[in-house]
Amino acid sequence: MNKDSIKSIFPKENSIPSEFHIQEIQQKEYLVNGEIRIWDGKFHDVYSPVKLSSDIELYSKKLGFYPLLSEKEATEILQSAKNAYNNGSGEWPTMSVEKRIMCLETFVSKMKEKRKEVVNILMWEICKSYADSCKEFDRTVEYIIDTINAVKELDRSSSRFTIEQGIIGQIRRAPLGVVLCMGPFNYPLNETFTTLIPALIMGNTTIFKPAKFGTLLFQPLLKAFQESFPKGVVNTLYGEGHVVVPPLLSSGYVDVFAFIGSASVANSLQKLHPKPNRLRSVLGLGAKNPAIILKDADLDLTVRECVLGSLSYNGQRCTALKILFVQKSIADEFISKFTEAVSKLKLGMPWESGVNITPLPENNKTESMKSLIDDAISHGAKVINPDGGVSHESIMIPAVLYPVNSKMKIYSVEQFGPIVPIVVFEDISEPIQHIIDSDVGQQASIFGRDPEVIGKLIDPLVNQVSRLNINSQCQRGPDSFPFTGRKDSAEGTLSTGDALRVFSIRALVAAKVEEINKELLTSITRERKSNFLNTDYIF
Ligand code: G3H
Repeated sequence: MNKDSIKSIFPKENSIPSEFHIQEIQQKEYLVNGEIRIWDGKFHDVYSPVKLSSDIELYSKKLGFYPLLSEKEATEILQSAKNAYNNGSGEWPTMSVEKRIMCLETFVSKMKEKRKEVVNILMWEICKSYADSCKEFDRTVEYIIDTINAVKELDRSSSRFTIEQGIIGQIRRAPLGVVLCMGPFNYPLNETFTTLIPALIMGNTTIFKPAKFGTLLFQPLLKAFQESFPKGVVNTLYGEGHVVVPPLLSSGYVDVFAFIGSASVANSLQKLHPKPNRLRSVLGLGAKNPAIILKDADLDLTVRECVLGSLSYNGQRCTALKILFVQKSIADEFISKFTEAVSKLKLGMPWESGVNITPLPENNKTESMKSLIDDAISHGAKVINPDGGVSHESIMIPAVLYPVNSKMKIYSVEQFGPIVPIVVFEDISEPIQHIIDSDVGQQASIFGRDPEVIGKLIDPLVNQVSRLNINSQCQRGPDSFPFTGRKDSAEGTLSTGDALRVFSIRALVAAKVEEINKELLTSITRERKSNFLNTDYIF
């Protein structure tokens, strides 16, 4: 792809393969208090980042619309979640773990039936390639199944009594209350569910607000939510964030705020809670993950991992490699191999097989990318790959910037898009200082072979970032591994196991070892009088 051919990149509607055609999604419904309510107020029209070409001009493909609820409906939705929790006495928070698992199993089987529909909408709404959209769906299903297995394991390990210092106790985990889940546009299904599902299974009641892009894809799942859970346990909130979210936080009735997005939005919302000590936050925020490429690195492997790490889904991953530091003696060779690999990436529409670079969903994203490129150029960098940074409407040929230095915005700003800045270093202290000075600290990658050098880097770097990847790109998965960050990158740890802890609190029932208590506890467990206090083993 070059600056001439990019002009004809957008297809005519009749050239799109029929299996990827999409019907307009007229989403008038939202889920509250177990009812699918029809909204008759304002709607938000959703257009795809994919433009279509008529004989005369390009036009935006309308995908459908969703409700723009007002503060009044947001408050009703909150009330619904609050009623379902009912101060911990609701059906859901007091239900046995086994029964909650059954609800989740019902949901996941209904969700699987909607795979084709959800994947197609996901692809059209955020322009994630068809292959990656399928992966996002399947990974989410797997996440739910793994969460169910993790909760069984947790329940089994707490299904017995402990006697210590003359006290009998049973220690389990209990829910926290009403959870508000807000996911990001780049993994709208997966990241929303990685907080929603553990929150649910631990007995919380939930409100989820889809991201600004990646909203319609939940429409096929509304009925599945309605049919799988008791009323009020799952509620959906649609609308402009600044209208519908602040009233929830300022009410003081949100107990857990699970948010993946920018630190500034998270902070302004957290501050609204009138009783800050009661609010738990689970946050996934910004990152500027660096790759440090040492002089003895295996260059073919490094180039492969760095291209994948920096440009898969156009660099729109919180875990993406957002700056590459290359040791001077191998810089020329690395740069030539890297730019060659970047120029082989296929630009195109998300349904095309083997496509790597697709249209960008955020408004004016190519303009904001261009301004970062211009700023770097004004401080001495060049775009070193052919036609890098050339854009047409919503799509952009990735730009490899070199040599990048600390005066440029791209040195510290998170681009979240198709720009790869490369810095040359002589002494390892430079990339390390970048990591130390950074406001974020999610992950880093080191490429090299010398155990002496890498071993010495591991010890300080694991105290700066939360995951250090050796000869591998940064990434979240596998989902059983802890996913977190230091500094402004995150609060709380998510993994299939850790998330269960984040959305619950240890709670125990204890009694002095007296005959009366032994008899009482025996009869409660034997006659199954309590869902919390029990010795059942879930198979
Ligand atoms: O955007 C952040 C995602 O959680 C990254 O996940 O590393 O598996 O692409 P990933």
